[in-house]
Amino acid sequence: MKATWICSALAVLLDTSGGPTMAPKPEPRPLPAPVSAGSMSLEETIARRRSVREFRDEALTPQQIGQLCWAGQGITDRHGGHRAAPSAGALYPMELLVMTADGVSRYRPRDHALEPLLAGDHRRAVQQTALDQQMITQAPATMIITAVVERAAAKYRDRAERYCFIEAGHIAQNILLQAEALELAGVPVGAFEDEKTTEVLKLPPGERVVYLVPLGKPRQH
Ligand SMILES: Cc1cc2nc3c(=O)[nH]c(=O)nc-3n(C[C@H](O)[C@H](O)[C@H](O)COP(=O)(O)O)c2cc1C
Repeated sequence: MKATWICSALAVLLDTSGGPTMAPKPEPRPLPAPVSAGSMSLEETIARRRSVREFRDEALTPQQIGQLCWAGQGITDRHGGHRAAPSAGALYPMELLVMTADGVSRYRPRDHALEPLLAGDHRRAVQQTALDQQMITQAPATMIITAVVERAAAKYRDRAERYCFIEAGHIAQNILLQAEALELAGVPVGAFEDEKTTEVLKLPPGERVVYLVPLGKPRQH
């Protein structure tokens, strides 16, 4: 990953054409294929899920990150493009970002890949926008659920924002249950300053953060 960012930076520095220099968009990195069968029953997963706020200092594997992304927003119906979590009118206004010590990436459901957005560790900056809740820097990964309300507004008008909040709940619960099934854990975080978090993450206009889900191996297990 570091090599990709270094190459991008060099490409900009070496551009001697005299025109405006634009950093090339980094290529999405494919994630390992998700599995759709596991050993823990749904009932057991629901019964065991608990919010956990202390994590071991262990990075998640690409397989674990891929599986968590799939549970949140993965395509589960190749023909219609429908996803793991329901969406009003199948308009899919929600986006899923993954923040780790290495950077922030956007999950691309169609490719089951991560597109790098920001390099470097932004966990402390995000934590500061979230009442300094320590689990955000402690967690090796935080799933960031964002909304582009406009996508739903054409059809649902003034109910679009409500639908986005409801969809964030579906996505977060899928991720939390998937985490449990992988013997990971997390906590849904709703207490953060909307504008500051959106600013730290340099989100494009119209996209806003709705929910954060820090995840990792529970410290006590
Ligand atoms: C909408 C929402 C927002 C939440 N925000 C936070 C938060 O900012 N910080 C936190 O530590 N827990 C947060 N939680 C987690 C709750 O505190 C937790 O779910 C509750 O204590 C019940 O415990 P359980 O999840 O283990 O069942 C939030 C939960 C929900 C549903």
